Amino acid sequence: MGLTIGVPREVFPGEKRVATVPEVVERLLKLGFAVAVESGAGAQANFDDAAYTAAGASIADSAAALWASADVVFKVRAPSSDEVGLMHEGQTLVSFIWPAQSADLMTALSARKVTVLAMDCLPRMLSRAQKMDALTSMAGISGYRAVIEAANVFGRFFSGQITAAGKVPPAKVFIAGAGVAGLAAIGTAASMGAIVRANDTRAEVADQVKSLGGEFVQVDYAEEGSGGGGYAKVMSEGFQQAQREMYAKQAREVDIIITTALIPGKPAPKLITAEMVASMKAGSVIVDMAAEQGGNCELTEPGKAVVKHGVTIIGYTDLTSRLAKQASTLYGTNLFRLAEELCKSKDGVINVNMEDDAIRGLTVIKDGAVTWPAPPPKLPPAPAPKPAAAVVAKKGHGHGAPSAPMSGSKLAAMFAIAAALFWFVGANAPPAFLGHFTVFVLACFVGYMVVWNVTPSLHTPLMSVTNAISSIIVIGALVQIAPPAVAGVSRPDELIRWIAIVGIALTAVNMFGGFAVTRRMLAMFRK
Ligand code: NAI
Repeated sequence: MGLTIGVPREVFPGEKRVATVPEVVERLLKLGFAVAVESGAGAQANFDDAAYTAAGASIADSAAALWASADVVFKVRAPSSDEVGLMHEGQTLVSFIWPAQSADLMTALSARKVTVLAMDCLPRMLSRAQKMDALTSMAGISGYRAVIEAANVFGRFFSGQITAAGKVPPAKVFIAGAGVAGLAAIGTAASMGAIVRANDTRAEVADQVKSLGGEFVQVDYAEEGSGGGGYAKVMSEGFQQAQREMYAKQAREVDIIITTALIPGKPAPKLITAEMVASMKAGSVIVDMAAEQGGNCELTEPGKAVVKHGVTIIGYTDLTSRLAKQASTLYGTNLFRLAEELCKSKDGVINVNMEDDAIRGLTVIKDGAVTWPAPPPKLPPAPAPKPAAAVVAKKGHGHGAPSAPMSGSKLAAMFAIAAALFWFVGANAPPAFLGHFTVFVLACFVGYMVVWNVTPSLHTPLMSVTNAISSIIVIGALVQIAPPAVAGVSRPDELIRWIAIVGIALTAVNMFGGFAVTRRMLAMFRK
């Protein structure tokens, strides 16, 4: 039999999550581990002892028994000092730790000569690590729940409605900070029918906001907000001033504000001032998801919902626990993915491989020695910047070999040759030809200019719409079929009439089909 993974009942007040769920127990057993769960560990997340037993886990009667029997402990919250006291040498702990903010805990754990993997230290930028990313899975849940909490105290519908009694406008929601939690909140509020706006200091998130149905509101001040690794940095005083003005305007207009703004290792930026709260309509709601890190709103009281200036300010710090079943399932799955990485041989034995970037990042204490902070992981090299000429060619054209821009003298020579040719044609060709030729040259020029300015990704829909437009030949058939409207024009004979009818039918297919296909293609580009 392999090592025993122990899952204790969480002792942090109000914590309802549990580090594994019955369906994950079955998968852990397949990796060769034995699983022990403390009695009542899953009770608050709707998983009773019987469900764990049915999945193949054993039940430990007390925390002491659980910690004594486990080789590896899976937990949600960082251990309390009592729990650290129950640990034994050689044990491995996997949980949230937050080493930067928990110096005492790190010292205590190191003294127990244990190995500690901190889920909050995962190098998230490694694509291989994403399946283990508990910060992301928890942030997604918090973002969703923040919207639900806001909806719960907001006195109106989110979606607009037209009823016999009158029209109800949709609620306006403003999201400050469009990281993982913010994006989840945008998606949830938009799907409930609200008008959603969002802002972030990292301009690169604008497209993600739009794709989830939100509108990105920019701060009128040019400054790059990325602090590296996908995280934000503290902005300049000038930016903060411009941002405050924009937020003050939003506060007057919107009904609900959800703030998620965080900067790693720094207190949460204060984005919503007391005056902004006072300027909001009565009955408005603020959900401050940064409450635990000091709050984004000046009037937030962590852990509570308070009413100030007629605005409900929610500072709950247990949003994930309010969706304990879902949160436990996702967290348990993240831990299972980590167990797979630690036990590649599926024999129930773990190997904390410090050569592996993801495992190295997670490991904050190895056999009692503090190994935090880890050196930055080796990322694949960024793609080399494209040569300028290639960029120019791509901008205009999109395909074909990148060519160098033409020199001025070459261009002048080409124009001279073209002008001479035109003069020659103009002097010698019959007048009727000249008229058609002028139209032809202009058509080529207009067509070229139009196509040149269409982005390459839209070339396929462009082809089909061109196909539809080519059905302009229908005019020829219509002229043939029409009764003589002008005196002196004879009626076409029957054969030509029938050919024209067939011609109209065929071009109609081309025309309507072409436009329909274009519509469908363009719909694929819209979200
Ligand atoms: P977070 O929780 O640290 O911050 C939340 C958001 O607040 C961030 O988008 C940040 O830019 C924003 N913010 C900070 N100060 C602000 C201010 N003064 N005003 C407005 N907004 C402000 O970040 P989170 O959600 O944990 O992750 C941030 C980003 O990290 C993600 O959007 C993603 O791009 C990246 N990430 C990448 C992963 C990967 O590559 N696998 C996995 C997870 C995250």
